[in-house]
Amino acid sequence: MNNNAPIGIFDSGVGGLTVAREIISLLPEEPIIYVGDDGRFPYGPRPKEEIQEFACQISDFLINQGVKMIVVACNTVSSQALDLLVSRYSVPVLGVIEDTASYAAPLSRKKRVGVLATPGTVYSNAYPEAFSRIDPTIKVVQVASQALVNLIENGSGGENGVKEFASRVISPFRETGVDVLILGCTHYPYLTKLMTELLSDQAQIVDPAVAVSIRVRKELLERKLSASGGNPERTFYTTGNPALFLKVGSQIYPGLKSVRELKLEGNEKIRR
Ligand code: DGL
Repeated sequence: MNNNAPIGIFDSGVGGLTVAREIISLLPEEPIIYVGDDGRFPYGPRPKEEIQEFACQISDFLINQGVKMIVVACNTVSSQALDLLVSRYSVPVLGVIEDTASYAAPLSRKKRVGVLATPGTVYSNAYPEAFSRIDPTIKVVQVASQALVNLIENGSGGENGVKEFASRVISPFRETGVDVLILGCTHYPYLTKLMTELLSDQAQIVDPAVAVSIRVRKELLERKLSASGGNPERTFYTTGNPALFLKVGSQIYPGLKSVRELKLEGNEKIRR
């Protein structure tokens, strides 16, 4: 495997740029290929079979681009398709759930962790299962909100009213007294400032991007796959509207300067 081959990162949309920006900041020498499946966003309410089909299709594309590693930025995909992807490809495939749980577990003094995620991630139970393997005494409080994700994806995440809405969504975390909150969807770290404002007196906010980028670095070092040399190429694809992706995406990752359109078969699948 060529050390200077890119790392493939994918997500259901623009939110995975929260993971890409963290990997870029920790590993600035690494070339990146990012795919946001905005054309079929959202994944959150979709059945597992569909998530798996989309995840394989995008990963096949990344493999054809010669990636040395695949990072599944999307929590929904990580919770429902990671095992399948790991068994399907010979390159390492990393998801976000397990590493985020390992990172968050020791931070909780009260042993009470909140997870804000899509319905797909919440109903898969992937986070509670990961915590039960790490520390079974930790109680996990999950809240599913698709509406909040959709607001961010369509660029309305900064508008008036989001604060009030977000405050209502996270009220179960206040009521149950969690002291760590995992933003278990790639889009939510867009709201880190707001979440910190709403919960700072009570909970430490955890962005899965931090844990997964540390894991990426570890895997590259262990496998002697780290890139070297300057000026790595970073290519960003969307299956949706490149102009919209650029507009919303550059608010998340200011280094985003151009976006290519990617046409995948079945892109026309009904939006939900
Ligand atoms: N990117 C997805 C995640 O991290 C959420 C967005 C969606 O519903 O597609 O779970």
